[in-house]
Amino acid sequence: MTTNISFLLNGDEISYDVKDHWTLLHLLREEMGLIGTKEGCGNGECGACTVIVDKLAVNSCLYLAIEVDGTAIETIEGLASTDGTLHPLQQSFVDNGGIQCGFCSPGMIMSSKALLDENPNANREEIKQALAGNICRCTGYIPIFKSVEAAKEMGGQNE
Ligand code: FES
Ligand code: FES
Repeated sequence: MTTNISFLLNGDEISYDVKDHWTLLHLLREEMGLIGTKEGCGNGECGACTVIVDKLAVNSCLYLAIEVDGTAIETIEGLASTDGTLHPLQQSFVDNGGIQCGFCSPGMIMSSKALLDENPNANREEIKQALAGNICRCTGYIPIFKSVEAAKEMGGQNE
Protein backbone atom coordinates (compact mmCIF):
# COMPACT_ATOMS: atom_id res chain seq x y z
CA MET A 1 0.00 0.00 0.00
CA THR A 2 1.15 3.54 -0.76
CA THR A 3 0.53 6.61 1.38
CA ASN A 4 1.15 10.25 0.53
CA ILE A 5 3.10 12.03 3.24
CA SER A 6 4.37 15.58 3.66
CA PHE A 7 7.34 16.68 5.68
CA LEU A 8 10.13 19.23 5.86
CA LEU A 9 13.48 17.96 4.65
CA ASN A 10 16.37 20.25 5.45
CA GLY A 11 13.90 23.13 5.36
CA ASP A 12 12.24 22.20 2.06
CA GLU A 13 8.59 21.10 1.90
CA ILE A 14 8.33 17.60 0.49
CA SER A 15 5.32 15.56 -0.57
CA TYR A 16 6.04 11.92 -1.40
CA ASP A 17 4.18 8.71 -2.07
CA VAL A 18 5.76 6.09 0.17
CA LYS A 19 5.21 2.36 0.45
CA ASP A 20 4.09 1.42 3.92
CA HIS A 21 7.02 -0.95 4.45
CA TRP A 22 9.73 1.55 3.46
CA THR A 23 12.10 2.69 6.16
CA LEU A 24 13.11 6.33 6.38
CA LEU A 25 16.61 5.21 5.39
CA HIS A 26 15.24 3.61 2.22
CA LEU A 27 13.24 6.72 1.39
CA LEU A 28 16.23 9.02 1.83
CA ARG A 29 18.89 6.93 0.12
CA GLU A 30 17.17 4.74 -2.43
CA GLU A 31 14.21 6.89 -3.42
CA MET A 32 15.47 10.45 -2.93
CA GLY A 33 19.16 9.89 -3.62
CA LEU A 34 20.38 11.42 -0.37
CA ILE A 35 23.28 9.04 0.10
CA GLY A 36 24.99 11.03 2.83
CA THR A 37 23.01 9.00 5.33
CA LYS A 38 24.73 5.62 5.51
CA GLU A 39 23.48 2.08 5.94
CA GLY A 40 25.73 0.02 8.19
CA CYS A 41 24.06 -2.74 10.14
CA GLY A 42 20.49 -2.04 9.02
CA ASN A 43 19.13 -3.10 12.41
CA GLY A 44 19.66 -0.26 14.85
CA GLU A 45 23.09 -1.11 16.21
CA CYS A 46 25.66 1.10 14.47
CA GLY A 47 24.18 4.61 14.19
CA ALA A 48 25.51 5.19 10.65
CA CYS A 49 21.96 5.96 9.49
CA THR A 50 21.26 8.63 12.13
CA VAL A 51 19.16 11.59 11.05
CA ILE A 52 17.23 14.16 13.09
CA VAL A 53 13.43 13.97 13.22
CA ASP A 54 11.74 16.81 15.11
CA LYS A 55 15.02 17.58 16.88
CA LEU A 56 15.64 14.00 18.00
CA ALA A 57 18.43 11.82 16.62
CA VAL A 58 16.92 8.58 15.32
CA ASN A 59 18.13 5.48 13.53
CA SER A 60 16.50 5.89 10.13
CA CYS A 61 16.88 2.16 9.42
CA LEU A 62 14.35 1.47 12.20
CA TYR A 63 12.00 4.34 11.41
CA LEU A 64 9.14 3.79 9.00
CA ALA A 65 8.92 6.42 6.29
CA ILE A 66 5.18 6.89 6.85
CA GLU A 67 5.94 7.96 10.43
CA VAL A 68 7.67 11.15 9.27
CA ASP A 69 4.42 12.61 7.95
CA GLY A 70 4.20 16.13 9.40
CA THR A 71 7.69 16.16 10.86
CA ALA A 72 10.84 18.16 10.18
CA ILE A 73 13.83 16.06 9.14
CA GLU A 74 17.48 17.07 9.06
CA THR A 75 20.11 15.07 7.22
CA ILE A 76 23.81 15.59 6.71
CA GLU A 77 23.07 17.18 3.33
CA GLY A 78 21.38 20.09 5.07
CA LEU A 79 24.29 21.13 7.26
CA ALA A 80 26.68 22.99 4.98
CA SER A 81 25.70 26.45 3.77
CA THR A 82 24.63 26.88 0.16
CA ASP A 83 28.02 28.50 -0.55
CA GLY A 84 29.72 25.30 0.59
CA THR A 85 30.84 26.53 4.00
CA LEU A 86 30.84 23.56 6.33
CA HIS A 87 28.77 23.49 9.49
CA PRO A 88 31.01 23.98 12.57
CA LEU A 89 30.61 20.29 13.45
CA GLN A 90 31.69 19.19 9.98
CA GLN A 91 34.67 21.55 10.01
CA SER A 92 35.63 20.46 13.48
CA PHE A 93 35.58 16.76 12.58
CA VAL A 94 37.90 17.56 9.67
CA ASP A 95 40.21 19.72 11.77
CA ASN A 96 40.41 17.41 14.78
CA GLY A 97 40.88 14.00 13.18
CA GLY A 98 37.30 12.90 13.83
CA ILE A 99 37.12 11.35 10.36
CA GLN A 100 39.10 8.56 8.75
CA CYS A 101 37.08 6.46 6.29
CA GLY A 102 34.10 8.71 7.00
CA PHE A 103 31.45 6.00 6.97
CA CYS A 104 30.29 6.70 10.51
CA SER A 105 30.75 10.46 10.23
CA PRO A 106 27.31 11.59 9.02
CA GLY A 107 25.69 9.65 11.85
CA MET A 108 28.20 10.92 14.40
CA ILE A 109 27.66 14.48 13.25
CA MET A 110 23.87 14.26 13.25
CA SER A 111 23.85 12.76 16.75
CA SER A 112 26.21 15.52 17.86
CA LYS A 113 24.07 18.19 16.24
CA ALA A 114 20.94 16.96 18.02
CA LEU A 115 22.88 17.11 21.28
CA LEU A 116 24.35 20.59 20.81
CA ASP A 117 21.06 22.02 19.53
CA GLU A 118 19.50 20.83 22.79
CA ASN A 119 22.48 21.39 25.06
CA PRO A 120 25.09 23.78 23.62
CA ASN A 121 27.31 23.32 26.67
CA ALA A 122 27.30 19.52 26.73
CA ASN A 123 30.21 18.11 28.68
CA ARG A 124 32.35 15.09 27.78
CA GLU A 125 30.06 12.67 29.62
CA GLU A 126 26.98 14.01 27.85
CA ILE A 127 28.76 13.82 24.49
CA LYS A 128 29.70 10.20 25.23
CA GLN A 129 26.11 9.37 26.08
CA ALA A 130 24.77 11.09 22.96
CA LEU A 131 27.20 9.11 20.79
CA ALA A 132 26.77 5.80 22.62
CA GLY A 133 24.72 4.42 19.72
CA ASN A 134 27.24 5.43 17.06
CA ILE A 135 30.01 2.99 16.25
CA CYS A 136 33.30 3.90 14.58
CA ARG A 137 35.60 1.13 13.44
CA CYS A 138 38.61 3.24 12.53
CA THR A 139 39.03 6.67 14.10
CA GLY A 140 38.66 5.79 17.74
CA TYR A 141 36.40 7.82 19.94
CA ILE A 142 38.71 10.37 21.58
CA PRO A 143 39.24 12.43 18.39
CA ILE A 144 35.49 12.31 17.82
CA PHE A 145 34.70 13.56 21.33
CA LYS A 146 37.34 16.29 20.88
CA SER A 147 35.78 17.26 17.55
CA VAL A 148 32.39 17.76 19.20
CA GLU A 149 33.97 19.75 22.03
CA ALA A 150 35.82 21.98 19.57
CA ALA A 151 32.64 22.49 17.53
CA LYS A 152 30.92 23.56 20.72
CA GLU A 153 33.47 26.34 21.08
CA MET A 154 32.81 27.34 17.43
CA GLY A 155 29.06 27.57 18.06
CA GLY A 156 28.25 24.06 16.86
CA GLN A 157 24.61 24.45 17.68
CA ASN A 158 24.11 27.08 14.99
CA GLU A 159 23.09 26.47 11.40
S1 FES B 1 22.22 1.19 9.75
FE1 FES B 1 20.80 2.00 11.19
S2 FES B 1 21.72 1.64 13.12
FE2 FES B 1 23.10 0.68 11.69
S1 FES C 1 35.80 6.99 10.46
FE1 FES C 1 35.64 4.98 9.62
S2 FES C 1 34.01 4.07 10.75
FE2 FES C 1 34.35 5.95 11.75
